[in-house]
Amino acid sequence: MSEPSAVEVPWELVCARCAQRYEGLASRYRCDCGGTLDVVHEFSAVSLRTLDARRSSREPLDKSGVWRFREFILPLGDDTLQRCAVTRGEGNTHLYNATSVAHEVGLDTLLLKHEGENPTGSFKDRGMTAGMTMAKFLGATQVACASTGNTSASMAGYAQIGGLSPIVFIPEGKIAYGKLSQALAYGAQTFQLEGDFDDAMRLVQEVCAAKGIYLLNSVNPFRIEGQKAIGFELLEDLGWEVPDWIVLPGGNLGNNTAIAKGLMEWHALGLISRLPRIAVVQAAGANPLYTAFTHGADVEPVIGADTIATAIKIGNPISWRKSLRGLAATDGVVTEVSDAEILDAKAIVDRAGIGAEPASCATVAGVRRLVAEGVIKKGQTVAGVLTGHLLKDPDVVVGYHSGTLEGFENPRANAPIRLPAELEAILDALAR
Ligand code: F0G
Repeated sequence: MSEPSAVEVPWELVCARCAQRYEGLASRYRCDCGGTLDVVHEFSAVSLRTLDARRSSREPLDKSGVWRFREFILPLGDDTLQRCAVTRGEGNTHLYNATSVAHEVGLDTLLLKHEGENPTGSFKDRGMTAGMTMAKFLGATQVACASTGNTSASMAGYAQIGGLSPIVFIPEGKIAYGKLSQALAYGAQTFQLEGDFDDAMRLVQEVCAAKGIYLLNSVNPFRIEGQKAIGFELLEDLGWEVPDWIVLPGGNLGNNTAIAKGLMEWHALGLISRLPRIAVVQAAGANPLYTAFTHGADVEPVIGADTIATAIKIGNPISWRKSLRGLAATDGVVTEVSDAEILDAKAIVDRAGIGAEPASCATVAGVRRLVAEGVIKKGQTVAGVLTGHLLKDPDVVVGYHSGTLEGFENPRANAPIRLPAELEAILDALAR
């Protein structure tokens, strides 16, 4: 294999703040000015027809809902990717036409793209396959991330598949059990820090810099490149039609950055004729983007961010500048929802048989709010992203339905019915 540093790649890294340019394989995650970096591509032409043809291919790269779009993600060339790609068929998630949910939020139709159907149960697998492939390509042996849970679960799993050693930094007591279980089970060295996500994020960057460990948070621009595939695949699901709205939750703000970036690139290439509007939904207790957006200002950190949706309990989001850029380009909006609204939306999504973790259901709570405010209009095509699987956070589910979540009403509860282990008792209960 040739030395990666000697390889010519068709992209550059460009600072999102000061536009300073760096060569594509420069080993850095930030500009000298402190700004985050974008991968800026020189794309080779690929038609939508080629992408369609890959749907019936048996090649592992074509079967992945990320690598099917490889020329727009990490164009290292097919030979290199066939050798290095750490893929497990990620993506290819279902787009639900969720009629019962639509009616609850004041729409006739609501589409929900369930990214919880990825291999480790969250949308993070799309960015991770790209980031881990880059780690492998660059010859890294250790990878690390800070996480509210899903990134660590994804990174741990993908690292083991790719033969790298994972190290995760998580905030103590603020991570849902499904996610902690995955990091431990996949064998990640797991540091539970006595602090919050923002502390973990700061420290992992320092540790990676000090020890030369490859950092796989979404400050790594190749993670963002992989996550663009959510938007690409959503359009593919719709026969390359562009929806009026894409709605998704915002925490560290990598995902909305990525979806906007990918679709802006396709728009510039002429592959699509217009852009969807992007709506980012934040929890009211962790709402730095919402505050900045409504004031037309830069993001100021929220100290002590708090929400029941632990995945998005983030006060100091890394990708805020890129996120605002994507919102400006797509005529996007930001809204906020309370934890009670998130829980109610979650009960609706779960009851529809679809199911998703709390942060994901902020999407549906946000759609309801934007419909009520007249921002989203009946008749528009609305695609919400459900970011994580129902089983990621079983404590919230059982707590809600059994009435033990302190401080919350549970009008949609489906409490378990305790009975003696006797036929008569069961028949009585069924008759009631
Ligand atoms: N939904 C879920 C289920 C998440 O896990 C996250 C982020 C988000 C939404 C927000 O996405 O950060 O791109 O704005 N989870 C990260 C983690 C922070 O560590 O797993 P974002």
